[in-house]
Amino acid sequence: MDKFMVKGPCRLSGRIEINGAKNAVLPIMAASLLTRGKSTIDNVPNLRDVKTMNELLRMLGAEVMFENRSLTIDTRNIKNYEAPYDLVRTMRASIYVLGPLVAAYGRARVSLPGGCAWGPRPIDLHLHALEKLGARLKLEEGYIHASADKLKGAEIVFSTSSVGATAQAIMAAVLARGVTTLKNSAVEPEVTELARCLIEAGANIEGVGTSVIRIEGVDRVEPFHHRVIPDRIEAGTFAAAALATGGEIELAGCDPAHMDAVFEALRACGGVIEVSGDTVRVSGPEKLEALHVVTHEYPGFPTDMQAQMIAVLARARGTSTVTDTIYPDRFTHVPELRRLGASIRLDGNIAVVKGVNRLGGAPVMATDIRASSALIIAAMAAEGTTEISRVYHIDRGYERIEERLRRLGAEIERIS
Ligand code: UD1
Repeated sequence: MDKFMVKGPCRLSGRIEINGAKNAVLPIMAASLLTRGKSTIDNVPNLRDVKTMNELLRMLGAEVMFENRSLTIDTRNIKNYEAPYDLVRTMRASIYVLGPLVAAYGRARVSLPGGCAWGPRPIDLHLHALEKLGARLKLEEGYIHASADKLKGAEIVFSTSSVGATAQAIMAAVLARGVTTLKNSAVEPEVTELARCLIEAGANIEGVGTSVIRIEGVDRVEPFHHRVIPDRIEAGTFAAAALATGGEIELAGCDPAHMDAVFEALRACGGVIEVSGDTVRVSGPEKLEALHVVTHEYPGFPTDMQAQMIAVLARARGTSTVTDTIYPDRFTHVPELRRLGASIRLDGNIAVVKGVNRLGGAPVMATDIRASSALIIAAMAAEGTTEISRVYHIDRGYERIEERLRRLGAEIERIS
């Protein structure tokens, strides 16, 4: 298993290109199953999660080609309707094939994802939405068996705003007979992007980007050609790294409109953020200031930036709090950050971070995608060498992060 060796401290400087958004591309790839033909997706990041979804689509019978950030998915020969446990357990987003398969082929067998490092992560809202649309569901031997002759439009009110369940319901409803109304839908840009892609493919969807989405079912959607939006979490992670190292970097090709809450937080702890079109200049102060951050649904501060923010605040002047209201158990990075000398106490879903003057290198373990990037951020700000094991987590969500950080001046090596 690969490891990273990070020698700190460093001060990041230079320009970095932001890749396409992982969480936008995964549901769009699943949505190709609603069509019969060849869809093309551009600006696709070369990530382990994308490769996992490619593998799953191939198992279903799709022909998949991935070259130069362009992904072609040919769905003319779909002949299998199962997402096996081995794939779903490595990537929860595999569940996205459930809705499209049952909508387009009338059946699906998808492994239940189970828990994850940051808590139970249920899929009850996905299943509730599909049942409302008329799918028959059975849970057997760890698998969801779904079947339907033709889905029917329905009113679905989500008890919690869920990115995954909203995407799932949109994909299932576009081919349903009649009108579906989704209330308390997630408004994350990745959901909006999926809806936009489906509209280009011929779906009839209104209220995109709002919490009430109206979908009038159509008989078919056509193969599409879509370009993926920039990854707001990747951009936020590099911005956080610039602050934590007192550096100055330029994020190229991002969408600042998606990043208000992150920029507000980074400014509040002393960062200077200058936006010019799709380029953002971020510079860190000599001394960071403490801050109180609470994660919320979009446009609030994203839970996917919570770990990186704690890493930034580890060396701030004063005591900060970082509260996660979306995933109250998502703090596996905290014991690892403590190994680097951070002073962090957990009080339920609140991390109380007492800023320290100095972090020091130590061996640590990556536990999930964003926890891993938080460890890299802290390691670059720490004095001495940090060995980060289990970096396969980071390869799920960040493309060649060590090469890109090296170009910004970090001393980071991958040891295979
Ligand atoms: C997506 C993102 C993930 C991000 C999260 C929140 C992808 C592939 N992943 O995950 O990176 O951290 O949004 O922005 O896009 N919930 C239920 N029942 C369900 C589904 C969700 O109770 O059936 C709850 C969750 O426990 C959580 C909240 O809803 O408290 C939001 O989760 P959700 O938005 O569904 O997250 P994901 O789509 O899994």
